[in-house]
Amino acid sequence: MHLLDTPLLNKGTAFTDEERTLFGLHGLLPPQVESLDEQAVRAYDAYRRKDDDLERHIYLRSLQDRNETLFYRLLNDHIEELMPVVYTPVVALGCQHFSQIYRRPRGLFISYPLRNSIPELLHNRPNANVDVLVVTDGERILGIGDQGVGGMGIPIGKLSLYSLIGGIHPARTLPVVLDVGTNNPDRLKAPEYLGWRHERISGDAYYEFVDLFVQALKHELPGTCIQWEDFANPHARPLLERYREELLTFNDDIQGTAAVALGTLIGAIKASGGNLRDQEIVFYGAGAAAIGVADYLREALQESGLSCQEAGRRIWIVNRGGVLRSDRQDLSPEQRVYAHPAERFDSWVLPATGRIDLGTVIQNVRATILIGLSTVGGAFSEPIVREMARKIERPIIFPLSNPTDRSEATPGDLLEWTDGRALVATGSPFAPVEFRGRKVAVAQCNNVYIFPAVGLGLVASRARRVTDKMMIAAARALGESSPALGDRSAALLPRLTELRGIAREIAFAVGAEAQRAGLAEPCSPPELRDRIAAAQWTPEYPRFVQAKA
Ligand code: NAI
Repeated sequence: MHLLDTPLLNKGTAFTDEERTLFGLHGLLPPQVESLDEQAVRAYDAYRRKDDDLERHIYLRSLQDRNETLFYRLLNDHIEELMPVVYTPVVALGCQHFSQIYRRPRGLFISYPLRNSIPELLHNRPNANVDVLVVTDGERILGIGDQGVGGMGIPIGKLSLYSLIGGIHPARTLPVVLDVGTNNPDRLKAPEYLGWRHERISGDAYYEFVDLFVQALKHELPGTCIQWEDFANPHARPLLERYREELLTFNDDIQGTAAVALGTLIGAIKASGGNLRDQEIVFYGAGAAAIGVADYLREALQESGLSCQEAGRRIWIVNRGGVLRSDRQDLSPEQRVYAHPAERFDSWVLPATGRIDLGTVIQNVRATILIGLSTVGGAFSEPIVREMARKIERPIIFPLSNPTDRSEATPGDLLEWTDGRALVATGSPFAPVEFRGRKVAVAQCNNVYIFPAVGLGLVASRARRVTDKMMIAAARALGESSPALGDRSAALLPRLTELRGIAREIAFAVGAEAQRAGLAEPCSPPELRDRIAAAQWTPEYPRFVQAKA
């Protein structure tokens, strides 16, 4: 029974006759022996009978808790259909309803009241060796805010993708929630809420608690990759800055988001026939996401030969107060890096108000790239887009704001207003666009293109730290794999079905950069490739009984 109850060892009806004899399973299973292929067909059939998203999510999560090999095999067979159910967007429902749908334990719950026993909690972990740990405090879950302990759905979902795409063995992953309370009144008053029923701790007490966790981790699991996930903005960057020199760690919301956007841009620039160093880039929005992408872009521009100053001169950022310029008093230090001196505007044609908005920037700059991270739906209006497209052959336009109704433009409009010349990627999913008799696929900038592959690269190269240069190397490798390089109607990003293979290329770029920087032991490129291939787990049953010769 123990074997049937252990999801990574359980084969269910696929236990062979010999295995059933050896482990005393006869009678505990129906007599028919099935193959994994047959089980996958049956499991898909059962899945298809579920008639709402939450039910589909529950079904897949319970399959994961019953037979993990079959779970990954099913996901692999239907990745495009099932990924949105185990991860975004449906995982948001899973987090909101976490306490109602909770069935079996998975991962570690580290609650503030147990702060003096964190080493013991870590010691109780389900698997001894951990390659990748994803941790959240549940405060900024996707677009749905504070979910308290329900945030656990995110590390679980994210690690499923590390295993599915990166091939990190599921037994070597660990989801963790730091339960520091919740400020969500609906959760606090719900009788079924399973977390610590208390308002969030904050300030020094918060950072001290996180530090107790990190110090215990360093002792119990040295060398494990720690990915911070869905922390609120005021905590996300300080935690990353505090630990990035001390641990193998990164924040996917900050670094993964920037890397996937940069990778998609690199693919688009290549597809347009241009070079990175010749681009003039305009951002609409100057929040955390825009500054993160701009920072990686500036670094990549410098890698392509521009000086720091030249790279900065190519990037224009516009927010509510207009373009970032050095005489503005309302800029944060991160934004000030992109502020242009007032003299740069001397020769510009300006509106009577003197305020330089997006339209004015597009009028005065020969922009090749326009990126929206503003949350302002429809901000890329027809005159703005037509003006940009008048000056260049292949405008690269990425309306990245989520959800769909906040997208700065729709792909259909962008193609219409540019006579089909625009290269488009979005933040939210859009169906392919019919444009003058051809069907144009639209890429969605989703971090899943980056983080599982980065994890694979870190594990296979045994890297000691994660640097921004490693993330940029990952972005470049992603850009190289853009289907649009060979086909004008193809999307800028590959299909999910191709991601396992592309993950190996990205992992190689990450590992090679780690070695170049002296953050991993050097080995030959073929050896690194072999290590990556060997580290990428495929969902197949273990053989408990040797086949007879
Ligand atoms: P944020 O709130 O930090 O930043 C929003 C920025 O837009 C601010 O600089 C604000 O001044 C500016 N803005 C708002 N209204 C404006 C207006 N009327 N005119 C000009 N500027 C205006 O938000 P954050 O985290 O930077 O995210 C922005 C958007 O990007 C969100 O919709 C988010 O969903 C999306 N996003 C998409 C990603 C992807 O595609 N993979 C990744 C991360 C974020």
